[in-house]
Amino acid sequence: MQTELCKKLGIDLPIFAFTHCRDVVVEVSKAGGIGVLGAVGFTPEQLKQELDWIDDHIGDHIYGVDIVIPQKYEGMGEMDPAKLEEMLQAMVPQEHHDFAAKLLADHGVPEWPDKDDKMGLLGWNEAIATLLVDESLKRPKCRLIANALGTPPADIIKRIQDSGRLVGALCGKVKQAKQHKNAGLDFIIAQGTEGGGHTGEVGSMVLWPQIIDAVGDTPVLAAGGIGSGRAMLAAMALGAQGVWTGSLWLAVEEAEAEPAQKQSYFDATEEDTVRSRSWTGKPCRMLKNDWTEAWATEGNPEPLGMPLQGLVTADAIRRTHKYAAVGECQKVAFNPVGQVVGQINEVESCRDLIFRLLNEYVEALEKVNALMPE
Ligand SMILES: Cc1cc2nc3c(=O)[nH]c(=O)nc-3n(C[C@H](O)[C@H](O)[C@H](O)COP(=O)(O)O)c2cc1C
Repeated sequence: MQTELCKKLGIDLPIFAFTHCRDVVVEVSKAGGIGVLGAVGFTPEQLKQELDWIDDHIGDHIYGVDIVIPQKYEGMGEMDPAKLEEMLQAMVPQEHHDFAAKLLADHGVPEWPDKDDKMGLLGWNEAIATLLVDESLKRPKCRLIANALGTPPADIIKRIQDSGRLVGALCGKVKQAKQHKNAGLDFIIAQGTEGGGHTGEVGSMVLWPQIIDAVGDTPVLAAGGIGSGRAMLAAMALGAQGVWTGSLWLAVEEAEAEPAQKQSYFDATEEDTVRSRSWTGKPCRMLKNDWTEAWATEGNPEPLGMPLQGLVTADAIRRTHKYAAVGECQKVAFNPVGQVVGQINEVESCRDLIFRLLNEYVEALEKVNALMPE
């Protein structure tokens, strides 16, 4: 089932799996697809450790890395990251910090044990993102870099392509897809509103064909709402060169998540997600809970923009992950996931999930073919 993009990468299946778990990256790539490690939460040192592990376990297979590479803003490119962070911290109203702290305390989420271990901006700034790209480009088995938000800066695109790797980016609008194409990206990920994480307003069924038509010969990967082989077939029928999936990998056997967190996916239906700015400052699809409701309630502080809201919530993200099963933590936890969460009902291994997708794909294709006259 190789598309042109699969051939370029040398992979057997057009299944791209976005994940934060190195084990999932390795298992998906070994099963014929390609695992893509989401690196935005990592420091350069942590990414080095993760990629060392992947390189040691993935055999002859390849993988990708997903990074948030912001465009340079006037003056910011040269600014020392510590100064930049200090400046941004000063822009966050105390009211926002207090509101977040109270929500966590009211739900019994313990404080982070080391008070001096402060959370910062992570990979959300250009200086750190560049170091993450540097680390990825040292790895011969890392063959693809994806950018989560916006078109990457021209110098980064050039560096990735000069190294012989492919570079792509997500988008949720035709306009953004055209910008990606004009910047010379090797592939475009068209993410419909159904998808987990940062997402736009247009549904996949409308967005995919429009973007595919708008960008001509640039390969498009369909993202957002793929929870079965039937949905994968629909994406391929619309002209996608593969599927870019995220939510499906959150509850697999190999995914490193607390049982309480996996249970919250099994309990959720397709109606239980919301696009909320409450964690990152940009609309991001996640499980609806007390946290998302509180930030959307009139009279309460409104979420700030990106990256300021991230400074309010960075500590809450790590605490709600660490103490996932404590108190009512899941009611205030950051759980990005797409509407396909309603189809995630059991723990499967990555390999079994990929085989299931393929079987469903073939079964659906046979049904569609059987409709044709003899
Ligand atoms: C938990 C989670 C975190 C995500 N974080 C990122 C990210 O950091 N960078 C990115 O490019 N996409 C991110 N995404 C979006 C995925 O790359 C992918 O486009 C999306 O999950 C596809 O839709 P689906 O969830 O319906 O499969 C995230 C998705 C999820 C579920």
